[in-house]
Amino acid sequence: MAFFKLTDEQLMIQSMVREFSRKVVAATAAERDKSKEFPAENLKQMGELGLMGMMVPVEYGGEGADTISYVLALSEIAYSCASTAVVMSVHNSIVCESILNFGSEAQKKRFLPRMTDAEIIGAFALTEPHAGSDPVSQLTTAVKDGDHYVINGTKRFITTGKNCGLVIVTAKTDEAEKHRGISAFIVEKGTPGLIVGNVEDKMGLRASDTTDLIFEDCRVPAENLLGREGDGFKIAMKGLDGGRIGIAAQSVGVAQAALDNAVKYAKGRDQFGQKISKFQGIRWYIADMATEIEAARQLMFSAAAMKDRGEKYTQQASMAKLFASEMVNRITGKCLQIHGGYGFTKDYVIERLYRDARVFTIYEGTSEIQRVVISNNILKDKRK
Ligand code: CAA
Repeated sequence: MAFFKLTDEQLMIQSMVREFSRKVVAATAAERDKSKEFPAENLKQMGELGLMGMMVPVEYGGEGADTISYVLALSEIAYSCASTAVVMSVHNSIVCESILNFGSEAQKKRFLPRMTDAEIIGAFALTEPHAGSDPVSQLTTAVKDGDHYVINGTKRFITTGKNCGLVIVTAKTDEAEKHRGISAFIVEKGTPGLIVGNVEDKMGLRASDTTDLIFEDCRVPAENLLGREGDGFKIAMKGLDGGRIGIAAQSVGVAQAALDNAVKYAKGRDQFGQKISKFQGIRWYIADMATEIEAARQLMFSAAAMKDRGEKYTQQASMAKLFASEMVNRITGKCLQIHGGYGFTKDYVIERLYRDARVFTIYEGTSEIQRVVISNNILKDKRK
């Protein structure tokens, strides 16, 4: 459902991804949640289906799809496995898009075809142990040395840090220039001095690895500088604008899965001589939840459509991310409540969905940061 009509092509992509997701991705999601096994096989097949670099133009190996098609696809993957979805989201929204928007022709030709094939998966390293919401205070440095930059520092909470084939890392090239002194570099896995550190043991999204990445005198060819020196913060912010629409899409997919599971449970569970779905309390929960999901979906579509039209969409992306990620946390909680004691066991999918959704209000900018972005855009000045 959308206030505008989805095109035949968008509907076809949605239905193709839905079929793949519910058949293939769903089959191993619960097991991966236990084993923490990276969904490499899913991603390989997603590369073959054109889902890894969907918005990359055909000339660089992508599908040249619009953002609406992308969020439809991402929601469908998240419906079955939020861990697979977050890898897809960072790879497509932040990494491929940043190379597409800021990369040289040589960088696009060199990296994008391998990324769209899912031969290499992308990661984005901005956050540091002491610089989360405030990335300008990052400490990682990159010092020019002949035709290389030497990078030193530690990045934290990096999605796909262990399993990525390349990472876009931000580092200070000019301490005096604050955000304008931050640059971005493409670093390939296997580059000496790039070390995978601690792998987090997380509450949810357990099949997606989240790691420290340590840069120890890591020498990166100067040709791997993304954009110009000093563009790094802008690249990160622009990448996160798109990324935040992706988190909204993940939230919509997980919330829809939670609701569908709760409806199924309520229609099958007898108490007091009738199905619990016949109780008005449960029916009102269901009505409210379906309404909230639809509201989040429309915000997601609206931000995606603005991006497709080439308009500035920073505020709408933050609104979609804020509303959708808060919504999915309310909804997975209510849906677990509908399951009663069974929802608290690993026998029901809702237990995993509840855990997976928790980070959505935190990563790619907390809810509080989304409110900073939204209010800055409305008030047209900056907070103190
Ligand atoms: N697009 C392009 N440029 C932007 C921009 C945007 N959306 N937002 C800001 N900028 C530019 C501004 O124009 C400004 O540039 P000039 O001064 O050159 O004109 C510059 O960036 C600085 O802007 P601000 O003064 O607004 O920056 P700030 O320091 O006050 O920070 C912030 C703003 C919104 C709080 C930002 O720091 C922020 O988004 N913080 C959260 C970071 C975040 O989301 N981290 C998550 C990391 S990724 C992750 O979660 C995991 C993963 O694996 C991907």
